[in-house]
Amino acid sequence: MTFDKIYPVLLFKAILFYLLWTILLFPTHLFIIISDSSTMFSNITTTMALFNKDAKSFIKLISIICFLEISALNGQLRVGFYSESCHNVESIVSSMVKEASQREPRMPAILLRLHFHDCFVQGCDGSILIDNVKEAERNAFGHEGLGGFAEIQTAKTQLEVQCPGVVSCADIVALAARDAVVMAGGESYEVETGRRDGRVSDLSFASKMPDVDDSIEVLKEKFKTKGFTEKDLVILSGAHTIGTTACFFMPKRLYNFTGKSDADPSINPKFLPELRSKCPKNGDVNVRISLDNLSERKFDDQIMHNIKNGFAVIASDARLYDDNITRAVVDSYLEITEKSNPNSSSFGNDFGLAMVKLGRLEVKTGLLGEIRKVGDHIV
Ligand code: HEM
Ligand SMILES: *[C@@H]1O[C@H](CO)[C@@H](O)[C@H](O)[C@H]1NC(C)=O
Ligand SMILES: *[C@@H]1O[C@H](CO)[C@@H](O)[C@H](O)[C@H]1NC(C)=O
Ligand SMILES: *[C@@H]1O[C@H](CO)[C@@H](O)[C@H](O)[C@H]1NC(C)=O
Ligand SMILES: *[C@@H]1O[C@H](CO)[C@@H](O)[C@H](O)[C@H]1NC(C)=O
Ligand SMILES: *[C@@H]1O[C@H](CO)[C@@H](O)[C@H](O)[C@H]1NC(C)=O
Repeated sequence: MTFDKIYPVLLFKAILFYLLWTILLFPTHLFIIISDSSTMFSNITTTMALFNKDAKSFIKLISIICFLEISALNGQLRVGFYSESCHNVESIVSSMVKEASQREPRMPAILLRLHFHDCFVQGCDGSILIDNVKEAERNAFGHEGLGGFAEIQTAKTQLEVQCPGVVSCADIVALAARDAVVMAGGESYEVETGRRDGRVSDLSFASKMPDVDDSIEVLKEKFKTKGFTEKDLVILSGAHTIGTTACFFMPKRLYNFTGKSDADPSINPKFLPELRSKCPKNGDVNVRISLDNLSERKFDDQIMHNIKNGFAVIASDARLYDDNITRAVVDSYLEITEKSNPNSSSFGNDFGLAMVKLGRLEVKTGLLGEIRKVGDHIV
C-alpha cells in the first residue's frame, strides 16, 4: 500500500481524534469553534489563536498516529507489496531476466551476484547501482566483475512507464536474483518487496565485503556481523554452483598460497594442473573460468560435492571445509543426496530461505530512502 492510499484513512482518523480530544479535554474550545466558525475559517490568524493551547500536543499526537500507521502499513517487507500499486512488477522483471539470459547465458549468475553485493553493503537498497558519484561503491576492488546494471535499468524503464515512481531499484534487483536462480534451474522462492532505495554510495563501504582470500574465521565474522550464521554462509556461498570467476581472483590460491610459491593444499591434485593451465602465472587476469567446473549453468548442489572433494575453484569456497561447523553444514547436504533420492536434498529449499534472509538485510522501508527514477543515478 502506498502513502497515497493510506492518506485518506489517516485524515479521517486525525479528524476523529481531534473531535474526541476537544470534546473530552477542551469543551470550551469546541464551543468557541462552533460559535465562531465563520471567522475561524476566514482568518488563519484567528484560527491559530483558537487552536493555540492544544495545537502543539494535537500535532504531536497526530504525528505519532501517522508514524505508527505508516510503519505498520508501509514500513515492512512483504510478499506482494506492489500487488495494488504495480501489479505487473513480477512479470516485467522475470521477462527481463529471461530475455537477458537468452542473449547472455552468463546473466543468471551476474544478477544473482549483484543482489548479494547490493545487500552486503549498507543493506539491500540498490546503492550498488549508483555510478554518478565520485567514489562510487560499485567501483571497489571487492565488487570487481559486477554486472547486470543495464538489465536492471531495462526493467526499471518499463516499470516507470507502467507505474511511475512506485517500484524501487532495490526490489528489482531482489526479484531479478530470484528469477535468475529459477532460470538456472534452481528452486523458486517468494521474494518480499517494499525496499526503498538508498542515496549513499561510497567506495570505502565495500571493505565489509568478504574477500576471496579471507580465512574461514574472517568469513564467518563478516557474515556474523551482518546477522548470518555459519549455515547461512555455507548455503549462500552455494550460489557459486553457477557462474564464473576471472583469473584475477586466482593467483594467490594457485601460485603463492603461503607466500612460498605454493598452491592451496586443499585443491585436489587432479584439479590443480587444470586450474593452473586455465589461469597461468602472469596470464590474462580477465579469462573467466567456471566456479563449478561440472555444471556452470545449472543451479544444483554440485558445489557442495566440489567443496568436499577439493574441486572448489575460488579459495573462499574451499575455506568452508576448513572449519568444523561449516564443514558439517557442507556434509549435511551431501549425506542427504548420497543416501536417499535426490528429491530429499534440501539445498534448493534452504537456499531460497537464505536468500529471503539476505533480502531483509538492513533494508530501508516506510519513510526511509526513496524510489529512484533511474537505477544508477541519485539526483
Ligand atoms: C563468502 C563470500 C563470498 C566471496 C568471497 C565471493 C567471491 C566471489 C568471487 C571472487 C567471484 C568471481 C567474480 C568475478 O570474477 O566476476 C564470485 C562470483 C559469484 N558470486 Fe560470490 N562470493 C561470496 C559469496 C557469494 C554469495 C553469498 C552469493 C549469492 C548469494 C554469491 C554469488 C556469486 C555468483 C552468482 C557469482 C558468479 C558471477 C558471474 O558469473 O559473473 N557469492 N564470488
Ligand atoms: C484576522 O483577525 C485578527 C483578529 O480578529 C485581525 O487582527 C487580523 O487583521 C485579521 N487578519 C486578516 C488577514 O483578516
Ligand atoms: C607471495 O606472497 C608473499 C607473502 O604474502 C609476498 O611477499 C610475495 O611478494 C608474493 N610473491 C608473488 C610473486 O606475488
Ligand atoms: C572440468 O571441466 C572440463 C571441461 O568440461 C573437463 O574436461 C574436466 O575433466 C573437468 N575437471 C574436473 C576435475 O571435473
Ligand atoms: C574440530 O574437530 C576436531 C576433531 O573432531 C577437534 O580435534 C578440534 O578441536 C575441533 N576444532 C574446533 C575449533 O572445534
Ligand atoms: C522427484 O521429483 C520429481 C518431480 O517432483 C518426480 O517426478 C520424481 O518422480 C521424484 N523422484 C523420486 C525418486 O522421488
